[in-house]
Amino acid sequence: MTKKEKYLKIAENSLARMDNSYKYFPEEDTPLFVKGKGVRLYDPDGNEYFDMVSGYSALNQGHTHPKIVASLLNQANRLTHTSATLSDAKIELAAKLSKMSPIPDTLVHFDIGGARAVEGAKILVRAYTGKSKVISFTNSFHGRSTGSLSMYNADTFQHLFNVPRDYYQSNYPYCYRCPLGKEKSSCSFECMDSLKDLLENKHDIGGIIVEPALGARGYILPPEGFYKKLRRLCDEHGILLISDEIQMGLGRLGSMFACELYDTVPDIILLSKSLAGGMWPLSAILGRKEIMEIVRPGTLGSTFAGAPLACGVAITSLEVIENENLCERSEILGNYFKKELENRFSQNSMVANIDGMALAIGVEFNLPNGDPATEETKKIQHVGLKEGLLLQRGGPFKNIINMIPALNITREEINEFIDRFEQVVLKVENEYFQIIEENQMNDIKIERADNL
Ligand SMILES: Cc1ncc(COP(=O)(O)O)c(C=O)c1O
Repeated sequence: MTKKEKYLKIAENSLARMDNSYKYFPEEDTPLFVKGKGVRLYDPDGNEYFDMVSGYSALNQGHTHPKIVASLLNQANRLTHTSATLSDAKIELAAKLSKMSPIPDTLVHFDIGGARAVEGAKILVRAYTGKSKVISFTNSFHGRSTGSLSMYNADTFQHLFNVPRDYYQSNYPYCYRCPLGKEKSSCSFECMDSLKDLLENKHDIGGIIVEPALGARGYILPPEGFYKKLRRLCDEHGILLISDEIQMGLGRLGSMFACELYDTVPDIILLSKSLAGGMWPLSAILGRKEIMEIVRPGTLGSTFAGAPLACGVAITSLEVIENENLCERSEILGNYFKKELENRFSQNSMVANIDGMALAIGVEFNLPNGDPATEETKKIQHVGLKEGLLLQRGGPFKNIINMIPALNITREEINEFIDRFEQVVLKVENEYFQIIEENQMNDIKIERADNL
């Protein structure tokens, strides 16, 4: 029995299966790691894996970055937690974020994870506008608390658990498979008509919450001008624009704040994931002063929200992004990565579309008839793991492999990954065509037998 098998055996009788740990792989292959460094992960038996998931973008600075580890130890030796009091680290981090923020006069509120930041933003919308609902988008993901779940359009959650619907939903542009059948070259943002209708006809909408690119649902980018149009609509209707940059911020799209890439200033920005370098759960709501002063002290927060340990580590985590030019690296290496993928897979019959910006790239797989290759993409993820590649699968049809490595990945590591990924794709593809061929041969045999 391997060490990993021993661990999985213990987990069988001790670990509940409600999160993603058991979701993506066959039971016996459930990934399990004991060590990480840069873009590499190691299992208990010493096997190495190339990490293309980066803790869902919570590790933009890579695994166990030495400066962030040192900062964690330093803060742990000094002050970890106080709860309902201030700390030097909390004030310094707030000042840093406020100065960096594209929103004028930004005030910052801290919490302990993405979903709680989303909940906080929804409360601010209610308090500031007096309206109870927000508009969210199809295929978006904002977390798994009941408030954030209530905006998640996966039927499983809403129907199974009867989560109340406190949102309206509009189309997120998905130009490769436009739900309205439009072509990108000739479309006039018809996907936004439903949004405009909602704003004209419903009078309880206080805000729009939007991801700068679809994250959990496959790295799909909106067309140019989308964010600006949202800003204009929010201004016309006197409602708030919330940019959920929990996954796409902090360099993932090549800029500290993703909204800056779209030349748009939202009213509220949400950050989490890599904010504390993947070392400690921390989220931040950044908002205009008059919005952030609307609720009374004590309304938002939780015991560990903005703990000195988290804030101290976050200051260093942001410094690493700044000092190591991770935003620029993300843009330059992302362009390189995308181009190399396009070159390598230009003749491939299953790779249908490569979308993305900077180091947030989605590779979409189709069957020869143009249908989403959902099962084959699942196989690519499974075979990838067996070959030492940790891959994430997403997209509305679960046929996109998301590529979100640490932003300090090197060109050599990208080249190595593409070589290994190509082998995995070819293996799955060959198996697919072999099965098709065998089925065709069987059909011919049956036909011949019928004709005898
Ligand atoms: C865009 C976005 N918002 C919110 C969340 C929820 O964050 P958390 O899992 O920390 O609650 C996620 C998580 O993946 C996310 O990608």
